[in-house]
Amino acid sequence: MNDHTMRTALNYPVARDTYKLVLKGAREFAAEAEAGCFAHIRIPRVLARRPISIADADPTDGTLTLIYAVKGEGTRAMSELLVGQEVLALGPLGKGFPVKDYAGKTVWLLGGGLGVAPLLFTARKLYESGASVRAYIGFKNSHYVYGTAELGRYADVRSYTDDGSFGIAGFAVKGMLGDLAAARPHAVFACGPKPMYQALAAGMPQSIPCYISLEERMGCGLGACLGCACEIRGEDGGVHIKRVCADGPVFSLREVVL
Ligand SMILES: Cc1cc2nc3c(=O)[nH]c(=O)nc-3n(C[C@H](O)[C@H](O)[C@H](O)COP(=O)(O)OP(=O)(O)OC[C@H]3O[C@@H](n4cnc5c(N)ncnc54)[C@H](O)[C@@H]3O)c2cc1C
Ligand code: FES
Repeated sequence: MNDHTMRTALNYPVARDTYKLVLKGAREFAAEAEAGCFAHIRIPRVLARRPISIADADPTDGTLTLIYAVKGEGTRAMSELLVGQEVLALGPLGKGFPVKDYAGKTVWLLGGGLGVAPLLFTARKLYESGASVRAYIGFKNSHYVYGTAELGRYADVRSYTDDGSFGIAGFAVKGMLGDLAAARPHAVFACGPKPMYQALAAGMPQSIPCYISLEERMGCGLGACLGCACEIRGEDGGVHIKRVCADGPVFSLREVVL
C-alpha cells in the first residue's frame, strides 16, 4: 500500500449526481486491489482525503475506476476534475470481501445506491474465481440507476427501484430474502445503507454467512486516528471498538452492532 500519483483519464456522469472517475497510472495499485477495498483520494485544493471504493481496477492498462456521488466539497471538487489532472490515491486500503473462500461456489450480492459500486469489482473477481453470482441491486428511482450492464457481464442481475420506475418495484433486500425459499447461496456479500443491513439481519437464516461493508467518516484511513470507529460484537459477547478503515470496511453481519 502506497500513495500513488494518478491522472484523470475519464470523469463523467453515469446517473443523477453520480460520476465515474477513471484514473490512469494505477498499475501497481490495480495489481494489489481486492474486492471491497478502497482508495483514500486527495483531490487538488481539498485538504482532507475522501475514501471511495474500488469499482474496478485493471493492472493490464493501469486503470482504477471509482463511482461516486456528489455530496459536499470533496466530491464536488472530484466531479470538476479534468482529463489529465493529477490526484493522489492512497491504497488499496482495508479488508474486503472473502472472494477466495467462495471460489466455485454460489454467492449472492446485495447492493443499494452507491453501495453497488464496489459490487461491480466484487462480481468480476467472483466470476473470475469460478463462482456463480446473482446480484440484487436497488436504487431510489430510474434516475439513480447505474452499473447494470457492467454487473450483467458477471452476474445474474435483479434490479429494483423504490417506485418501480426501473426494474421491480420495492427493496432489493426484500426480493432477495423472498427468493431464499427457492434457492440458497453459500454466502451473501452486501454494500448499502444501514436499514438494508437491518432488514438483512432480521430476515437472513443464521446458516448463510453474510458479509457487509461499513461506511464511517474517515481521517487517516490507516488505522491510526480512530476517526472511523464502529462497534463489533466479540466472541465473548462483549462489544468492542474496531476501525472501519483497517479492520474493515467488510465485517461479518452477525458481529456488527447495527
Ligand atoms: C470505505 C468507504 C468507501 C466509500 N465508497 C464510496 C463510493 O464508492 N462512492 C461514494 O460516492 N461514496 C463512498 N463513500 C462515502 C464518501 O467517502 C463520502 O460521501 C465522501 O467522503 C463525502 O465527501 P464530501 O466532501 O463530498 O462531503 P462532506 O462535505 O464531507 O459531507 C457531505 C455529507 O455527507 C456525509 N458524509 C461524509 N462522509 C460520509 C461517510 N463516510 N458516510 C456517511 N456519510 C458521510 C456528511 O455527514 C455530510 O452530510 C465511502 C466511504 C467509505 C468510508
Ligand atoms: S480513519 Fe483513522 S483509524 Fe480509521
